[in-house]
Amino acid sequence: MRRSLILCCVAVACAPQPASNFEGTLASGVDVLQLPTEYFGPRKLVDLDPDPDVVEVNLEAKIDNHQLSGTLSLPSYTYNGLSPGPLLEATAGNRVIVHFTNSLPEPTTVHWHGLRVPEAMDGSPRIQTPVPAGGTFTYDFVVPEAGTFWYHPHVRANEQVEKGLQGVIIVRPRTPAEEPHYAAERYFVLDDVLLRNGQFAPFLDTFMEKMHGRTGNALLLNGSAEVETVTVPAGRVERWRIVNTSNARTMKVSFEGATWRVIGTDGGLLRNAYSVESLEVPVGQRYELEVAFTGPGPARFVSWVLVNNNGAIEERAFPLVEVVVDSVPEVWPTQSWTVSAPAPRAIDGDATFEFDVMNDPTMGLMWMINGQSHPAQPLFSFQKGQVVLMRLVNNVGMEHPFHLHGQFFEILDASQPGFKDTVLVPGNSVVEIAATLDNPGRWMAHCHILEHAELGMMSEIVVTP
Ligand code: C2O
Ligand code: CU
Repeated sequence: MRRSLILCCVAVACAPQPASNFEGTLASGVDVLQLPTEYFGPRKLVDLDPDPDVVEVNLEAKIDNHQLSGTLSLPSYTYNGLSPGPLLEATAGNRVIVHFTNSLPEPTTVHWHGLRVPEAMDGSPRIQTPVPAGGTFTYDFVVPEAGTFWYHPHVRANEQVEKGLQGVIIVRPRTPAEEPHYAAERYFVLDDVLLRNGQFAPFLDTFMEKMHGRTGNALLLNGSAEVETVTVPAGRVERWRIVNTSNARTMKVSFEGATWRVIGTDGGLLRNAYSVESLEVPVGQRYELEVAFTGPGPARFVSWVLVNNNGAIEERAFPLVEVVVDSVPEVWPTQSWTVSAPAPRAIDGDATFEFDVMNDPTMGLMWMINGQSHPAQPLFSFQKGQVVLMRLVNNVGMEHPFHLHGQFFEILDASQPGFKDTVLVPGNSVVEIAATLDNPGRWMAHCHILEHAELGMMSEIVVTP
């Protein structure tokens, strides 16, 4: 029995889902490391280039019907007809060529969230003239390091992402020693959408949405509002990659009936894995989890959501994946891996980003960074190679997932280890990060609540060569 992840308002009946989009096997020629891993996830982009060092794919943004649940199909924005779009997979050091076609009725770009690509290939509309309706563009870049990333538009992103434009990127390490081998690898795109009368609700239509970002009333897992069921042998240890692509909702996830730990973040595998009771995943962030289904009994992957129960706000666990643990035992060896992270470097610069909001009589609600809404000029200029302490000062009660393009940073908080490109700054608080500015160019620094970004919380920094 499948249940729908509808939080309120929307009636979506419990019906068997059409063909599951969770099945798939490694396309031949893609699995360069010859892993015994079984792959589960949405379809992959087909590599058209036989050269093992080059991944060449076709990507088309177009309107297509997308099945959100057993009974609800909506004209959506898709990549190659899918939402989430097909997986882009490459190996660190590969050249990636994406022949992009825009078949949407409006301009768009593709941003490779987290990939440290050259500025001209980053999909920033401040640098790349957006691809017009009917136009094409070839993105051509080298993927420098391994990890889990994602792609999405950077034009009117609050609408284009919500309507379905999002996809996962997996970059595998170059050497086998850097890659653990699990029995199976799955990835899950966590999202939510706001529906009204079986349609996407109007955008930026309410004060609520402008203030808090667009919070959906249906949770989606890999584009579907249905609970997924998987069956695994007892003892199975898997690698799960998760991405939060929602417009505004910080996801909080955990497992019941399984042993799990965090093995990777935005910037790839961690040197030291760690355990948590539940994991907060702000918009834009990625995590890699190692999950052991030891049984006996079923397990489930759940998302914790605040719901209004007759006026009382309470946190409730919504199942995303039900795991049936089969009695057939499987023994999987403990995995280890090496991390080739750069040695820590001394901080040699600093910058403060302050987050504010203003209600302007003519402009309406304006979100600001350092007193400016949509600042036309970059806020800071740094030199390539600098390690900059960035103080993110949030002067308002709403949280902001702050994202820096083109670079990695570390959060100066021991409970959030690893390299990141996105960090959650809770309401009325200060978060410090140390950014390693190794990639020259003009880079966006913005809030990843897409409504905040569209309403002004979108700035730039410059890293001079
Ligand atoms: Cu994921 Cu500037 O974005
Ligand atoms: Cu924000």
